Amino acid sequence: MNRKDFGDDFYWGISNAAYQVEGANTAEGKGLSIWDVFTQKRNKIFKGHNGDIACDYYNKFTDDIYLIYQSNIPNYRFSISWSRIFPEGIGQINYKGIDFYNRVIEFCLELGIEPWITLYHWDLPEALQKKGGWTNRDVVQWFNEYVACCIKNFGDRVSKWIVLNEPMVFTGAGYFLGVHAPGKKGLTNFLAAAHHAALCQSSGGRTIRSLQSQSFIGTSFSHSHLEPFRKDDKKDQMAKIKVDALINRLFIEPLLGLGYPVKDLPILNRMEKYILADDMQDLKFDMDFVGIQVYTRELIKHAPLIPFVQANIVKASDRFVHHTIMNWEVFPNSIYEAVKRINEYKGVKQIIVTENGAAFDDVLYNNTISDTLRKDYLKNHLNKLLKAKNEGIKVNGYFVWTLTDNFEWAEGYNPKFGLVHVDFLTQKRTIKDSGKWYKDFLS
Ligand code: NOJ
Repeated sequence: MNRKDFGDDFYWGISNAAYQVEGANTAEGKGLSIWDVFTQKRNKIFKGHNGDIACDYYNKFTDDIYLIYQSNIPNYRFSISWSRIFPEGIGQINYKGIDFYNRVIEFCLELGIEPWITLYHWDLPEALQKKGGWTNRDVVQWFNEYVACCIKNFGDRVSKWIVLNEPMVFTGAGYFLGVHAPGKKGLTNFLAAAHHAALCQSSGGRTIRSLQSQSFIGTSFSHSHLEPFRKDDKKDQMAKIKVDALINRLFIEPLLGLGYPVKDLPILNRMEKYILADDMQDLKFDMDFVGIQVYTRELIKHAPLIPFVQANIVKASDRFVHHTIMNWEVFPNSIYEAVKRINEYKGVKQIIVTENGAAFDDVLYNNTISDTLRKDYLKNHLNKLLKAKNEGIKVNGYFVWTLTDNFEWAEGYNPKFGLVHVDFLTQKRTIKDSGKWYKDFLS
């Protein structure tokens, strides 16, 4: 397998996100985000870690983007911190924030790297959370004001946009389970947040298209390939269908005009009270591409005591299968199954894998990290992606998660996903063997 097998117009890239790398969380007029606040709470994050400094990318972005250039990676996906641009979420613009992203964009272009901007990667301005955040329907206006500002300021040089990053994760973990910012729990919070996020996903797309004619617009979904734990067990099969409706279908289907998957997950009927007259129509938008982020497969078991889905995920470690530090099974075929599945939806024009990668224990020895497991993980996933491409599936891009080791949300700095190792005491970067492999692969 080599790069050419994927065709000349295939987008090769690497992804990261503002809160996970930037640091400088109060520098030059930046307002606080929900993650700045959530990480200060006790016992929420592994060892009390936070993103106050992270990879100090705010000051070191030229070094990091230069690493992308040296690695022959032509596309770079990063996110904008909303509260750097609007410290209060709306209203007054912080021009220092605009300036910062202008410098990032300019430097990419100087090196011939195409910038892909994720507009929302989980760091809502805290000022908006004080008004209810994603549970407040006004978020649709707030978000579109912010999106319009980004297009007006960066749209002369950036045409690739990702509206939301993994809405299922930021609404599920942030507003249902309370394990991510802002730490809210319960079905009511979740259903309101989910519906408003779905409205932002489509209206954000419309805002971009109305302001920029030459744009290439997508939005990114988490997607796990699911199987029943006991293949022939009816209850496990039912459990799988419910979990699938929740974690894989909830956001893509309304976007494609199919509505919410209420038939397979009746609890979603309770969303009705948030749905206004024209909403089902407004949830639709014809994206130029669908981004999917694939890491693993999950096996689903019937669990009568679990509310709403009556299902559990059987952890990889309990199944004694090869897994990463995240306890995610290494199962390369999941990427094949995922793109195949998305491809079956009518109305999907192009699929881009906007994230794929793995966290393993890395050992730095003699300035070298021989991360064979990560290298094999990437290679094996790419092989399966090529199989899908050769079968005619419309997949047209692949972005590795991620450039440097960084702040992995509730897990802090413990899981390391980077192709580049970071010593967080000195901020020294060391390219891992997987990074060298990706470079050779792309040469
Ligand atoms: C999904 C998220 O978009 C990203 O922020 C996270 O670090 C990776 N997956 C790995 O968990």
